[in-house]
Amino acid sequence: MTLVSNRLSAPNSLEAKDVAYLVHPYTNLRAHEQQGPLVIVRGEGIRVWDLDGKEYIEGLSGLWCASLGFSEKRLVEAARRQMERLPYTHTFAHRSSEPVIALAERLVAIAPPPIAKVFFVNSGSEAIDTAIKLVWYYNNARGRPEKKRIIGRRRAYHGITLAAGHLTGLPYARVGFDLPMSDRFFHVTCPSLYREGLPGEDEEAFADRLAAEIETLIRALGPETVAAFFAEPVMGAGGVVVPPASYFRKIQPILERYDVLMVADEVICGFGRTGNMWGCDTFGIRPDLVICAKQLSAAYVPIAAVLMSRDFYEVIADQSARLGTLGLGYTYSGHPVAAAVALATLDIYETDRILDHVRAVAPRFQARLARLADHPLVGEARGIGLIGGLEIVEDKRSKRQFPQEAKAAVRIVGKILEQGLILRPLPGDVIGICPPLIVTESEIDELFDRLERGLDAALPAMAEAA
Ligand SMILES: Cc1ncc(COP(=O)(O)O)c(C=O)c1O
Repeated sequence: MTLVSNRLSAPNSLEAKDVAYLVHPYTNLRAHEQQGPLVIVRGEGIRVWDLDGKEYIEGLSGLWCASLGFSEKRLVEAARRQMERLPYTHTFAHRSSEPVIALAERLVAIAPPPIAKVFFVNSGSEAIDTAIKLVWYYNNARGRPEKKRIIGRRRAYHGITLAAGHLTGLPYARVGFDLPMSDRFFHVTCPSLYREGLPGEDEEAFADRLAAEIETLIRALGPETVAAFFAEPVMGAGGVVVPPASYFRKIQPILERYDVLMVADEVICGFGRTGNMWGCDTFGIRPDLVICAKQLSAAYVPIAAVLMSRDFYEVIADQSARLGTLGLGYTYSGHPVAAAVALATLDIYETDRILDHVRAVAPRFQARLARLADHPLVGEARGIGLIGGLEIVEDKRSKRQFPQEAKAAVRIVGKILEQGLILRPLPGDVIGICPPLIVTESEIDELFDRLERGLDAALPAMAEAA
């Protein structure tokens, strides 16, 4: 198979046939058959190149994950060394490997308190499904078989497997897939002041109202039926929503009052994205469970984890002794190569002082982002640390969106791509920005220069679409 170009103009050519064997996630498959994929062939630093040799800044770190860019030799070396020494063993039934043990210890050392134990999986969705099953196992163990309901938020993204698809607060996760299959999942208001705030409501009043909504729901359902609240500290794939600073601090005591577990989905925020090691640190969250993935291995290999408190662990450990086993695990739970790469990633975060770096460059990123609020297509420019979102509107004053058929964010991201910047259109006509954590100040300027040019280039087409 030889791929020669991204422009698959001859549909019967060898190239078109070859790429046609792939089913592409998150695409209109019929439209995709006409268009063909953008084939990325190599990367260096924060940049990638396509088959035609065109260079792009990867402004979303792939899918919010390639924190160390695309040419980190130390990670390649860590994988090579582990593959040579022991490419595979598992963690079932009293087995383990050196890198897996070391990684668990390392994660607990840096995790937000009171995290004490680690269960390895392979993806964010798998971690969410695993956490949901563990929460149910935990309440069965405590003799509370009724306490199973889970609260999430509208627009939240927690993955797409069966249970995670119930928790994700975006319709596309369910429509056409026969979901929901379970009535245990509930969704409360997304903490976007811009979209959900009442006229004249400030951040504090908004956070008070949303916390009260959660308390009202728990009481209405019956606290004895509510097991857990799952939340991303900053919502990513649902449209980059930064909650009010006091939002989680107001919710946490309510959860504690009703014995509802706090599960922090740190799949995007974890490992420095918000300017602290964890989104939990940034927002004062005291989690019972933490979900992490993506930047755990800088995306060089798949690995994810469910981190849990000592109290939670003790309950499930006793239950496994009663039942004879914890019937939960995957062939690649604790893959030694993935663990070795994740350990090397955490080493790099420490030795290269990535957190200090993020804190040093984030003000530049946020300043350039904030400037875009004046652009005619941008209703709100929001972000924290090295993550940002642009909410596209047709009318800035009324916050009116373009008609859905206009596919505003998709079209604008296409124009931005022409300028050599890869970004991602998100639900609600938001454009996500999330560069590798190693991005420098001058690269941030270059990224936003390309972004501004792309937005300007989209203006005439969007004026027609209005
Ligand atoms: C916050 C969050 N949770 C869970 C997931 C699911 O992760 P995966 O795609 O690895 O299954 C994602 C993916 O983007 C995510 O952003």
